[in-house]
Amino acid sequence: MPARGLTPLLFCLLPVWTILTPASGHPQHSPCSLEQQTAHCSNRKLSSVPVGLPGSLEELQLNYNHIKTLQDDSLLLYPSLNTLSLACSGLEKLESNVFQASRLLESLNLPNNNLNIGYQESSLALRKVPRLQVLDLSGNKLNDEMASTLLENLTSLEYLNLSGNLLMRLDETSFRDLHQLKDLDLSRNIMFEMDGAFDGNLKLRRLNLAFNYLPCLIDFHMTQLLVLNVSHNAVEWFIARQDLNETFQLETLDLSHNKLLFFPFLPKRSNLQNLYLSHNIVRFYEHFADNATFPNSSSTVEFYNLKKHVSNVSAQLWDDSLHGDISAVEILDLRYNQVDYFPRGFIGKMSSLSRLHVGTNCLKTLNFTSERFSGSLYELDISNNRLKQVLADDGALTNLDNLTYFNLSLNSLKELPYGLFSSLPKIQSVDLSYNSVNICRPEEAKVGAPSFSACVDWSNIMSLRQLYLKGCNLESIPASAFTGLSLTHLELSDNPGLVVQDSLQSLGGTLQHLGLGNTQVKDLEFSPFQSLRSLNLSRNSLLHIPSSILNIEVLEVLDLRDNELSTIPSGQADTLALTLQTVFLTGNPFDCCQTEWFKTFQTSAVNMAGQAEILCEDLFHTTHRALDSHRFLCFEGESVLWYILLLVPVCLFFVGVSIVVFLTFKPRMLQKSIKKKYLKPTSY
Ligand SMILES: *[C@@H]1O[C@H](CO)[C@@H](O)[C@H](O)[C@H]1NC(C)=O
Ligand SMILES: *[C@@H]1O[C@H](CO)[C@@H](O)[C@H](O)[C@H]1NC(C)=O
Ligand SMILES: *[C@@H]1O[C@H](CO)[C@@H](O)[C@H](O)[C@H]1NC(C)=O
Ligand SMILES: *[C@@H]1O[C@H](CO)[C@@H](O)[C@H](O)[C@H]1NC(C)=O
Ligand SMILES: *[C@@H]1O[C@H](CO)[C@@H](O)[C@H](O)[C@H]1NC(C)=O
Ligand SMILES: *[C@@H]1O[C@H](CO)[C@@H](O)[C@H](O)[C@H]1NC(C)=O
Ligand SMILES: *[C@@H]1O[C@H](CO)[C@@H](O)[C@H](O)[C@H]1NC(C)=O
Ligand SMILES: *[C@@H]1O[C@H](CO)[C@@H](O)[C@H](O)[C@H]1NC(C)=O
Ligand SMILES: *[C@@H]1O[C@H](CO)[C@@H](O)[C@H](O)[C@H]1NC(C)=O
Ligand SMILES: *[C@@H]1O[C@H](CO)[C@@H](O)[C@H](O)[C@H]1NC(C)=O
Ligand SMILES: *[C@@H]1O[C@H](CO)[C@@H](O)[C@H](O)[C@H]1NC(C)=O
Repeated sequence: MPARGLTPLLFCLLPVWTILTPASGHPQHSPCSLEQQTAHCSNRKLSSVPVGLPGSLEELQLNYNHIKTLQDDSLLLYPSLNTLSLACSGLEKLESNVFQASRLLESLNLPNNNLNIGYQESSLALRKVPRLQVLDLSGNKLNDEMASTLLENLTSLEYLNLSGNLLMRLDETSFRDLHQLKDLDLSRNIMFEMDGAFDGNLKLRRLNLAFNYLPCLIDFHMTQLLVLNVSHNAVEWFIARQDLNETFQLETLDLSHNKLLFFPFLPKRSNLQNLYLSHNIVRFYEHFADNATFPNSSSTVEFYNLKKHVSNVSAQLWDDSLHGDISAVEILDLRYNQVDYFPRGFIGKMSSLSRLHVGTNCLKTLNFTSERFSGSLYELDISNNRLKQVLADDGALTNLDNLTYFNLSLNSLKELPYGLFSSLPKIQSVDLSYNSVNICRPEEAKVGAPSFSACVDWSNIMSLRQLYLKGCNLESIPASAFTGLSLTHLELSDNPGLVVQDSLQSLGGTLQHLGLGNTQVKDLEFSPFQSLRSLNLSRNSLLHIPSSILNIEVLEVLDLRDNELSTIPSGQADTLALTLQTVFLTGNPFDCCQTEWFKTFQTSAVNMAGQAEILCEDLFHTTHRALDSHRFLCFEGESVLWYILLLVPVCLFFVGVSIVVFLTFKPRMLQKSIKKKYLKPTSY
C-alpha cells in the first residue's frame, strides 16, 4: 500500500523539518514573500520588523504577528515605505521616532491592537508622518481622550477608521485638525452624543455612525456629506437645519433599525437618492395637524445635551406636507414601520422613485389613482400590510411602464381592479400569496369588464415569469388559466384540495420551479416539464413518488417532506440520483429494512437536507434514524417466512442424520432394548 510506504518517509522528514523551521523564522533569512515592491510577512510569529528586505520596499504587510512595540529604528531601512499594515499583532506602542525616515508613508493600518496602552507616545510618532492619508485605528480600545490625542495635528488625513473602539461623546475638538478628512468610520462604538463634532471637517463625504447609542440627530447641516449611515442606533429624531438655502449633497441616508417616530425632517434642498428607514416606528400624523381636535399640540421640540445646553429645534411636526426635498429619491425602504397611509402628494413628489418597499406596515388601501407613482417605478413591495383594497383606473396603470416586481402577499385582499396585472407591460414577478383572490374561469374573464373582480385572469400576460399564489384558497385551476404565459416559477403551495387538471401542461417548456406543497395533488403527469429544476411536493400524503418525475431530465431540487413514503425503490433512487442535488425527505414513515435508497443518495453525493432527522421504523415499530440502518437486523414479514421455510428442512435433515448415526454406532443398545422389551422370558 502506498500509505504504508509514506509513513517512514514522514518520520525521516520530521527532524529535517524541525531543524529548518527555526532557521526560516530567523530574521536574517527573510520570512516574507516578495511581490514587486510589497513584502507579505503576515502570520509568521514575528516579534519585530524583519531586516534584510529590499530597501526600495513600498508596502509592508505584518498582520497577525506579535509585535508589541514598533521601535524607533525598525523602519530606517525602508525609506520608500508607502503602506504599513500591522493588524492583530498585539501592538501597544509606536515609539516616537519610528517614522523619522518614513517621509513617504501615506497609509497606516493598525486595526485590532492595544494602542490604548501607549497612545501618548504613539501620538508623537503619528505627528511626524507628513503625508499620512489613511489611518485605521479600529478595534484598539480607544476612549474619547485617547482618540483626540492620537489625532492631533494629523492635518493631511483623508480616511480614518475608529470603528469598534470605546468612544462615547464627541465635540468640536475631537476632529478639529482633520481638515482633509473625507471618509470617517465611527461605527460600533458606544457614542450617545456628538456636539458640533464635524464642523471643522468641511471635506467629509462619508460618515458611518452605525451601531452606536445616538438618541437623535438634530440641526443636521453637513451640506457636503454624500453618505450618512446612522443605522442601529436609538435615533428618535432626525431633523435637518431648515433655514439653509444650499443644496445638501447627501445621496444616501441610512436610518434603519432605530426608533424614529416621524418620517425624517429632511433638508429643504437635497440630492437624496437612497433612503433606508426600515425597522423604526415611523407613521404619519395628519389628524394631529387638525387644530380643532388638538388645539394645543406643540410644534417645537426641545433638546438638551449633557452640558445642559438647550437647543430649541422647531419642526412642523404635524404637517404631512413637509418632508423636505424627496424629489430625487430612487430607493425608499420603509419596511417594518407603522405607516397606515401615505400623505397626499407624498408618493407623487418622488418623481424618480424606482424601488418602494413598504412590507410589514399597516396600509389599508392602495390607490394608484391618487398616489400617482412615477413611471420609473420598478419594484413595489406592499407585502404583509392590511390591504383590503387596491384601487386603480386605467390611466394610472398604463403609466407604470417599468413596474417589474409587485409583491402583495400577506394582505386581506378579496378583489382587485379588473386587468390590474395585464395593464403592466413589463411585469415579471407577482406575489399574491395569502390573499383570497381566485383565478378566473373563462366565462368570468369575459363578463363585460367589471371594475373589480374577485378573480384574476392571468392568461396572455406575456412578460410574466414568476407567479406566487400560495395559500389563496384556490380550489381548481381552469384548463386555460395559464395559456400564453412563459412562467419560469409557479408557486401553488398551501392550497389544500387544489384541482390542477391540465392547466399546467402549457407551461411545460418554460417552468423551472413548481411549488405544489400541501395541495394534496395526486397522479399529476410531470413528463411535459422538461425544464423543471425544482419541484415541491411536500405535505401531500404521497405513498409513492409519482413515476413521471423520473422523466424530468434536469431536476435538481425535490421536496418530498411530510408524505407517506415507506421506501424509494432502487430503480427510482438510481434515476433521481443522476440529476438531483438536494432532496428533502424528513417526515416520512420510512421502512428501516428498505433503505437502499439512502445509500444510493449518500454515495451519489445527493444532499439529503436534515439527513440526521430522516427516520424509519423497524418491524416492531421502533423508530430509528435512517442513517443508522446498517446497525440493526431486519426480518421483514416475507423474509421471516423464507427463513422458516429454509430452516425447517435443514433442521429435519440434521435430526434425521443424527438418528441414523446414532443407530449405526450403537446397534447393540438397540438390540438390548428390543430384547429387554420384547425378548423377556415369559413366565408361564
Ligand atoms: C500642532 O500644530 C500646531 C500648528 O501647526 C502647532 O502649533 C502645535 O505645536 C502642534 N502640536 C503638536 C503637539 O505638535
Ligand atoms: C473599519 O474597520 C472595521 C473593522 O476593522 C471594518 O469592518 C470596516 O470595514 C472599516 N471601515 C471602512 C470604511 O473601511
Ligand atoms: C450601514 O452600516 C451597516 C453596518 O455597518 C451596514 O450593514 C449597512 O449596509 C450600511 N448601510 C449602507 C446604506 O451602506
Ligand atoms: C435663504 O433664502 C431666503 C429667501 O430667499 C432668505 O430670506 C434667507 O435669509 C436665506 N437664508 C440663508 C441662511 O441664507
Ligand atoms: C393650526 O394653527 C397654526 C397656528 O396656531 C397654523 O399655523 C396652522 O396652519 C394651523 N393648522 C391647520 C391644519 O389649520
Ligand atoms: C389649550 O390651552 C389653553 C390655554 O393655554 C387651555 O385653556 C386649554 O384648556 C388647552 N386645551 C387642551 C385640550 O389642553
Ligand atoms: C425654547 O422654547 C420654549 C417654548 O417655546 C421657550 O420657553 C424656551 O425659552 C426656548 N428655549 C431656548 C433656549 O430658546
Ligand atoms: C382614489 O383616488 C382618486 C383620485 O384621487 C379619488 O377620486 C378616489 O375617490 C380614490 N378612491 C378612494 C376609494 O379613496
Ligand atoms: C424605464 O426603465 C428604462 C430602463 O431601465 C429607462 O431607460 C426608462 O427611463 C424608464 N422609464 C421611466 C418612465 O422612468
Ligand atoms: C413577498 O413578500 C413576502 C413577505 O415580505 C416575502 O416572504 C416573499 O418572499 C416576497 N415574494 C417574493 C416573490 O419576493
Ligand atoms: C415546499 O412547500 C412548503 C409548503 O409551502 C414549504 O414549507 C417548504 O419550505 C417548501 N420547500 C422548499 C424547498 O422551498
